[in-house]
Amino acid sequence: MARLRVGVLISGRGSNLQALIDAAADPAYPAEIVTVISNRADAQGLAHAAAADIPHHVVAETDRAAFAAAADKVLKSAGVELVALAGFMRLLDIGFVEAWTNRMVNIHPSLLPSFPGLHPQRQALAAGVKFSGCTVHFVRVEVDTGPIIAQAVVPVKAGDDEDRLAARILTTEHRLYPLAVRLFAEGRLRIEGDRVAIAGAIAPDIAVLNPTEVLTGLASRGH
Ligand code: GRF
Repeated sequence: MARLRVGVLISGRGSNLQALIDAAADPAYPAEIVTVISNRADAQGLAHAAAADIPHHVVAETDRAAFAAAADKVLKSAGVELVALAGFMRLLDIGFVEAWTNRMVNIHPSLLPSFPGLHPQRQALAAGVKFSGCTVHFVRVEVDTGPIIAQAVVPVKAGDDEDRLAARILTTEHRLYPLAVRLFAEGRLRIEGDRVAIAGAIAPDIAVLNPTEVLTGLASRGH
């Protein structure tokens, strides 16, 4: 069976790109990464593409429309069917977003719609939430909006700083993005307004409290 042709847009480290490459290394995975585009020549992720023999391109145009035109050309010539943004840090041209509507996904390290935009882990810590996580969603013109495909939850722990929370979330990103791309590739996603229905999806039958238990002996009145 032909695999879904995925183009990945990156700006930096590329660990989510690597997770997708690793998933696609299994011939049974229904998608393959056919091209990688970075807007930065120094993006570490380009080396991941090179190591996996995936064609990769630097599209450094700073003008939004010029970037869109150049990126679109690369994606089209590679026969891309799904665009996956993976740590892509530039705002996209509206026409480009519209042209790829429902065929472009993004991963964001928060439980959207909470904490869109920059420094979502810092925002989560400042808000004092007890859980955070990551979200894969279809891309719309407003940054970090669009129908949600899948989410993963992690606890915020006492003593977390931005880096520790980001690292905990990132390990779930590396599981969630390949899962979401697989669901798309299998044709199991149906967008109904702002919501995504997933054929055959099973939600976990759990509820988690944080804190999960309170140690006895620490309580003292007035504190
Ligand atoms: C990830 O946390 C992703 O959710 C966010 O940017 C980060 C990119 O990391 N959009 P990497 O480049 O995939 O390692």
